[in-house]
Amino acid sequence: MQFTKAKDALSKKEGDIQLRGWIYRIRKLKTKIFIVLRDASGSIQCVIEKGTSAWEKAQDLLVESSIVIKGHLRKDKRAPGNVEVDVEKLNVIGEAEEFPIHKDKSVSFLLDVRHLWIRSKKMRNILKVRNEILHAGRNFFREHGFYEVTGPMFVAQAGEEGSSLFEVEYFGEKAYLSQTSQLHLEAAIFSLEKVFTMGPSFRAEKSFTPRHLTEYTHLEAEEAWCDLEGTLKTQEELIAFIAKRVYENCNEEVKQLGRDPSDLKNIKPPFKRIDYAEAINQLQLKGFDIEWGEDLGVREERALTKNETKPLFILNYPKDVKAFYMKQHPDDPQRVLCDDLLAPEGYGEIIGGSERETEYERLLQNIKERGEDPQKYKWYLDLRKYGSVPHSGFGLGMERLIRWLCKLDHIRDAIPFPRTPNRKYP
Ligand code: 4AD
Ligand code: MG
Repeated sequence: MQFTKAKDALSKKEGDIQLRGWIYRIRKLKTKIFIVLRDASGSIQCVIEKGTSAWEKAQDLLVESSIVIKGHLRKDKRAPGNVEVDVEKLNVIGEAEEFPIHKDKSVSFLLDVRHLWIRSKKMRNILKVRNEILHAGRNFFREHGFYEVTGPMFVAQAGEEGSSLFEVEYFGEKAYLSQTSQLHLEAAIFSLEKVFTMGPSFRAEKSFTPRHLTEYTHLEAEEAWCDLEGTLKTQEELIAFIAKRVYENCNEEVKQLGRDPSDLKNIKPPFKRIDYAEAINQLQLKGFDIEWGEDLGVREERALTKNETKPLFILNYPKDVKAFYMKQHPDDPQRVLCDDLLAPEGYGEIIGGSERETEYERLLQNIKERGEDPQKYKWYLDLRKYGSVPHSGFGLGMERLIRWLCKLDHIRDAIPFPRTPNRKYP
């Protein structure tokens, strides 16, 4: 007999059934033992009668033991989901010791036992939404004519600020863990025109905030023959596409996580756009002590987006707070053609994007001004020498997107095994 998934069993009519999974709850009464069996799909209540062979086997079973059950499914109004399985045969596959996770455990304890905590209902819901989001991201690009490529994770130069580089020893030389695949994607557009990649990026930021990880999942895209306007359009369509997929395929999961699914229906282009100078104005009016030229931090982004229901673009930041590769604004050399896309409800930046500087001399100047060694960027500068074209691209932090869509307090729950400055275990 085939195994039935718990979720499918709930919608089945009366009949014989075989299930396998883990004991989520077990309650022993005088003449009955109730087991709530969980698998990846959901859970179902099973009941063992005194005097059966299963009764003896179930006596000492603890939660999280893995079992196989053969039994008879019937409707029962009193059971969760209104069905119950009368157990005829029970096989214990892996007996569990006393499970260390009980109610009211501290956050740091749960992080220490993360390998076990990912079995929890909350984490299972998040991981299912995460799965949907990662797939939707890939599907969007496939459907829009982008080729998937992968960049190297060992690199010889910074892609963003040098201060957040992880240095590694590389056969007696220095190498770094990649902060972004952007520079390599830029090389790839001369072969494939529209490319994307999804993989880890590393940031050695000692930031203990609810939106920073040291290793995160980065979805990046780069398009040849594309200006800032073009990439803004790709960005808003991508986010809307993903939100729609989550709405359609993970309605129940997001609801259980506390997100009203109808919020997601509303995430449609166009997204509001404001200029950086306008953002500074708004912040000053809200009482922030901030001047033109300063970067926006967590607090500023929260203030700008807390009453928004859709993401918000901030455009054309000052050159000095952004990376070396961004194209100079044609009307203002102090600014660059770039965008940050901020998630609504106070969540803040999820995307950083820009048109890229194509002028060889300007790019070289930018590299020097930031104190970097142009020799290390020789290959990147080459791209401006052999058939350079206007191009733009962006990077989306997947855990930040997941955090927003799932309404999570902290980014660490958006990834199964979070890495932060003080955590690399388990
Ligand atoms: O804004 P960032 O630094 O931009 C880049 O890396 C560009 N090179 C991307 C590109 O144009 N191809 O990073 C992009 C996004 C951020 O908007 C944020 O969502 C995420 O990556 N991110 C982080 N997510 C989690 N933890 C961190 N420490 C992050 N740093 C950036
Ligand atoms: Mg950024």
